[in-house]
Amino acid sequence: MHPVVIRSLETNDIPRIRTVIRGIWDWAHMTDNDKVISARIGLYVNELLHNSSFGKIALIGKKTAGAIFGRVRGEEPALRMMQQDMTEDILALLKATDDERMAVCEYISSIQTAYAGMMGGNENDYDGEIVFLGIAEEARGRGIGRRLWESAREHFISRNVRKIYTYTDTESDFGFYEHLGFKKIGEWRSTFVLGKERFEMDSFLYAYRFEGQ
Ligand SMILES: CC(C)(COP(=O)(O)OP(=O)(O)OC[C@H]1O[C@@H](n2cnc3c(N)ncnc32)[C@H](O)[C@@H]1OP(=O)(O)O)[C@@H](O)C(=O)NCCC(=O)NCCS
Repeated sequence: MHPVVIRSLETNDIPRIRTVIRGIWDWAHMTDNDKVISARIGLYVNELLHNSSFGKIALIGKKTAGAIFGRVRGEEPALRMMQQDMTEDILALLKATDDERMAVCEYISSIQTAYAGMMGGNENDYDGEIVFLGIAEEARGRGIGRRLWESAREHFISRNVRKIYTYTDTESDFGFYEHLGFKKIGEWRSTFVLGKERFEMDSFLYAYRFEGQ
């Protein structure tokens, strides 16, 4: 068995991050069109890279086990230069049916409404954010999520960060954050229609305070 290696994110990791993200959530409730799912994930990954100032990846041999992306307020958004060419993803969305495009738009706009509603314009109360944390299903339960969090934690502490937040939801394993000492400070129910299905999701806002900072 290869040891787990944690290192900073590099541009050529991005396609593998897309693969990990594809396996984490059930994208099929949005559409069964593979190209649309891939385009949605491409948009999501570019948004993560746009919003993050650091990223760490966990590798087991050559396999990507997971990643964490974070942002420190005032720190250069260094991951933006890793953003990918979106031409293929945008073309896939243009070629999608109206229903497929609507499902993607509904999902994105419902999440944005939930996040803005929970935050209520109070971003400046925080020095940073966990933008993304995910571990491939087959690599879970081996302490890799905790190691990625510890690595991000060191980054935050080295920048004198006192308080951070993260968004999560009932599609994710939000209990992990509670286990690490995050406190739930916001909750938002979204109901939207994806294709023919009514979809309900609760989003949460969690905060974490660094002791002694
Ligand atoms: C949540 C997630 C990151 C955990 O990663 P992991 O590598 O399996 O977790 P670890 O093995 O490092 O677990 C570390 C600790 O957290 C605990 N833990 C893990 N998942 C948990 C959960 N869902 N609820 C409560 N505690 C959890 C473990 O029991 C372990 O406890 P210990 O160290 O005190 O013994 C992973 O399940 C995942 O990627 N889920 C899907 C995406 C997601 O939900 N991302 C994060 C929330 S948005």
